[in-house]
Amino acid sequence: MQYDFLHRPRRLRMNSRIRDMIRENHVRLDDLIYPMFVTYEAGAQKSIASMPGCFQWGVDRIGEQCRQIEDLGIPAVILFGIPEEKDERGSQAYSESGVIPRAIEQIKKSCASLVVITDVCLCEYTSHGHCGMLEGESILNDETVELLAREAVVHAQAGCDMVAPSDMMDGRVGIIRQELDDADFAYMPIMSYSVKYSSGYYGPFRDAAESAPAFGDRRSHQMDPPNRMEAMRQAELDIDEGADIIMVKPGLPYLDILRDLRSRFDVPLAVYNVSGEYSQVKAASERGWIDEKRVVMENMTAFKRAGADLILTYHAPDVARWLNEQCEQ
Ligand code: PBG
Ligand code: ZN
Repeated sequence: MQYDFLHRPRRLRMNSRIRDMIRENHVRLDDLIYPMFVTYEAGAQKSIASMPGCFQWGVDRIGEQCRQIEDLGIPAVILFGIPEEKDERGSQAYSESGVIPRAIEQIKKSCASLVVITDVCLCEYTSHGHCGMLEGESILNDETVELLAREAVVHAQAGCDMVAPSDMMDGRVGIIRQELDDADFAYMPIMSYSVKYSSGYYGPFRDAAESAPAFGDRRSHQMDPPNRMEAMRQAELDIDEGADIIMVKPGLPYLDILRDLRSRFDVPLAVYNVSGEYSQVKAASERGWIDEKRVVMENMTAFKRAGADLILTYHAPDVARWLNEQCEQ
């Protein structure tokens, strides 16, 4: 067959330099935030069976570990604490001598410029594993929010650079903003877990952070997976209440939500590539069923293409190494 005229998109795919020139989305070191688990246990490096390559680090070792993260060029970490004692009110979450304030102090001694973000929630600190104070089996919203605001202020006083409430209580961003302002932290940014779905993909994290609920689940506060419009409303409320950065979580199963939020709001947008997403990739690549580097970079690219500015991911050190290798070539 003879064509006078034919569209040939392959013209721009033939040469790798041309492919580089017209590439629309890029994963950068500055996009990455590395989640880390800190335990009160001195000297610890406890592996997490369902998350190969991730560890609970003793609070006395977290500084040196973060130094390595900083040396890779990763700009930020987000910290989760495993306390020595848990109680009904999660007291260790807002104790000035708790594991997170101590970790922040260590990190600030070891790292020159690493951005230290703290997860603000109660589930790692409560004896029942729920994200707030209970009355019977239900979570008391407003009482919980007060405790979360105390937790955020304690983290700020210890010297963190950003707080990230992950609890999904109503009104928590506004109250945290107000309490931070009153405590002289008007410039402490809030990255809100705004659109957090009730997901099976958090399973490995709950092993890692020892935070599985003792009974029931988190459906009374985390979002119902089928809902999309609700995600827009939820993000709008958080922005109104003063969230500086909003987040979608999990990542890969919710790329549509990420794209919707990107089109609708003009605040920086983060995505959490959660534990279960990480474990899947690790398990399949350990068996030789997929090419780990290729799949991870494809996933990271998917987040950027969907509209994320920031990616919280357990793959961050690997991604940083791969990006650094690319630069050296
Ligand atoms: C705590 C919290 C969770 C995650 C981040 N903060 C778990 C949960 O809601 O049970 C999940 C992160 C992951 O799976 O990697 N509220
Ligand atoms: Zn929680």
